[in-house]
Amino acid sequence: MLTVTAHGATLPAIGLGTWQLNGETASAAVAAAIEAGYRHIDTAIGYGNETEVGEGLRRTGVARDQIFLTSKIPPEQLGADDMMRAAEASLRRLRVDQLDLLLIHWPSRTLTAAETIRSLNRVKQRGLARHIGVSNYTVRLLDEAWAATEEPIAVNQCEHHPYLDQSKLRAATERHGTAFVAYCPLGRAEALDEPVIKDIAGRLGRAPAQIVLRWQIQKGCVAIPKSAHPARIRQNLDIDGFELAAADMDAIDALRTDGSRICDSAFSPDWD
Ligand SMILES: NC(=O)c1ccc[n+]([C@@H]2O[C@H](COP(=O)([O-])OP(=O)(O)OC[C@H]3O[C@@H](n4cnc5c(N)ncnc54)[C@H](OP(=O)(O)O)[C@@H]3O)[C@@H](O)[C@H]2O)c1
Repeated sequence: MLTVTAHGATLPAIGLGTWQLNGETASAAVAAAIEAGYRHIDTAIGYGNETEVGEGLRRTGVARDQIFLTSKIPPEQLGADDMMRAAEASLRRLRVDQLDLLLIHWPSRTLTAAETIRSLNRVKQRGLARHIGVSNYTVRLLDEAWAATEEPIAVNQCEHHPYLDQSKLRAATERHGTAFVAYCPLGRAEALDEPVIKDIAGRLGRAPAQIVLRWQIQKGCVAIPKSAHPARIRQNLDIDGFELAAADMDAIDALRTDGSRICDSAFSPDWD
C-alpha cells in the first residue's frame, strides 16, 4: 500500500472520504472500503456520520490499530474548552479510544491560528489524538500555526483537483514537512469527463478516476475520494502498478482553471 509519512504519521495514500455518506450507506461504504483494503477513513464532526462510520469500522473485524482514522473539529467549537469537549464526544460517537488524526476543519474567523493550534495541542497531549493537523489553511495561516505549535502539524487537508492549482500551497506545506491531503480529489467527478483524462485512461487501460488519483499521488498528495459504491471504492484504491508519464502529468495540469474552487463558504479564509 502506498503511504505518505509526515512528522511520525504514516498515512495510507488513499483514504475513503465520507462527506454526504449518512446512515446505513455510511456504515456500508466504510465496511466495503476496509474489506477492499482501505486502511484510512476520513470523517468530521460536521458530517454528522461519526456513529455510522464507527459502526462500519467495527463491522469488518479489522483491528483498530490497522486503520488510520481522521476526524475534524468544526469552526464553532474551536475555543479551548469547546474543542476538548468536541474531541471527547467524537471519540464516544466513533467508539474508539483515540483518533489517529484530528484536524481543525476550517480556520476560525474570531480566534487566531496560534490560539487554536495551542488548544489542539492540549487535545493531543491528553491522548485523544495521535497526530494533529489543519484543514483549509492558507500559507499564512499554516506559517502562523507552525510558529505557535509545540506539537508537529502532520497534515494540511485542502481542496485539490485538476482544475484547482495548489502548487504554492503544496510547496509551503511541504516546506514544513506537513503532508498535503487532497479533498475533492476527483473534482466531485467532473474531471472524469475531461477528454484528456479519458484519452490517458483509454491508452493505459485504466478508469478516469484512477488517472486522476494517480496524478494526485505522483504530486505527493494523499487523496480521500468519496464513493458510496463498492465497485468505485475498489477502483479508487487500485492505483498501484502504473505510472503517468511527465507529458500526461503536464496535460492534466493544463486543466487548471481560475474560479474552479468547489468548497467556498462563510468560513473560508482569504485564499492564496
Ligand atoms: N476538509 C474539508 O473542508 C473537506 C471539504 C470537502 C470534502 N472533504 C473530504 O474529502 C472527501 C472527498 O471529497 P468530495 O466527496 O467532495 O469529492 P470527490 O471525492 O472529488 O468526488 C466524489 C464524487 O465522485 C464520484 N465518484 C467517486 N469515485 C468514482 C469513480 N471511481 N468513478 C466515477 N465517479 C466516482 C462520487 O459518486 P458516488 O458516491 O455516487 O460513487 C461522488 O459524486 C469528502 O468525502 C470528505 O471526506 C473535506
